[in-house]
Amino acid sequence: MTKYGSFPGTRPRRLRTTPVMRRMVAETRLHPADFILPAFVREGIAEPVPISSMPGVVQHTRDSLKKAAVEAAEAGISGIMLFGVPEESKKDAVGTPGTDPEGILQVAIGDVRAEVGDDLLVMSDLCLDEVIDHGHCGVLDAQGRVDNDATLERYAEMAQVQADAGAHVVGPSGMMDGQIGVVRDALDQIGREDVAILAYTAKYSSAFYGPFREAVASSLKGDRKTYQQDPANWRESLRELALDLEEGADMVMVKPAGPYLDVLARVADAVDVPVAAYQISGEYAMIEAAAEKGWVDRDRAILETLTGIKRAGARSILTYWATEVARQLR
Ligand code: PBG
Repeated sequence: MTKYGSFPGTRPRRLRTTPVMRRMVAETRLHPADFILPAFVREGIAEPVPISSMPGVVQHTRDSLKKAAVEAAEAGISGIMLFGVPEESKKDAVGTPGTDPEGILQVAIGDVRAEVGDDLLVMSDLCLDEVIDHGHCGVLDAQGRVDNDATLERYAEMAQVQADAGAHVVGPSGMMDGQIGVVRDALDQIGREDVAILAYTAKYSSAFYGPFREAVASSLKGDRKTYQQDPANWRESLRELALDLEEGADMVMVKPAGPYLDVLARVADAVDVPVAAYQISGEYAMIEAAAEKGWVDRDRAILETLTGIKRAGARSILTYWATEVARQLR
């Protein structure tokens, strides 16, 4: 009590007094099973190649990827999301390495599946940007615009070869209209009703994809603003959400995570399917860079961002720290 009257009448600080008290009342807990590790595998390299803008993350060889998958499974995380980086000379205007059963992503899916079986969900990025010579997420028409429907035909084939290679889950990330429905039909047509779709539902055109472009040796010039969403908008995320659910999405994703927690919370409130969020390369790079300079406490900052993403409504979180954090939590 102060000499000024009756305040404070209520004392919320009582519930913050000790670590065990805070732990008891915590509304949000991170668990290894919350996490999915995005991983890059590059064709034609003998040793893993560090990604300079993502300290601690590498382009894997087929062998080092298998090792990373085993470690991820042992740490108890739920899945690994694979991105393939083909040899530059194999990229072409239709993204042939994306539908070649011998393409790097497909062989890596098979490798990981053989290594970890069903202990870890094997997920694959379903998009053309890593395999196409101009780096856009779709094929171009005669005027040089991204051709939505021609791209869907390619996604359908990619879904089928990824499923044949052993993917448990495919992740269409190109933001073409109708992509979830077409992929669902394509999978069902080859009898792969069991393969789930993690839809990149709300994917924003973000500056924070920067380091990823290095990670996949992207050929992109220009931007993705005609297909990825404008950061100014949240309503269209609900529109994309309704469409993805109607088309058969099993799970939906918001991406990036940190700058879009409002969108994540709204999406999570609106659905009864599991919601994922992707803490992307730039979100990773910012914390690593600030920590390297000694400007933030790295481990606390990581846990704080992940807790925030889960608190906002994510059931699953894709993060490059997945294995490390899961180990810490065990
Ligand atoms: C597209 C794709 C991208 C990311 C995941 N899938 C790149 C983009 O849209 O430009 C970015 C992931 C990250 O930045 O960590 N295949």
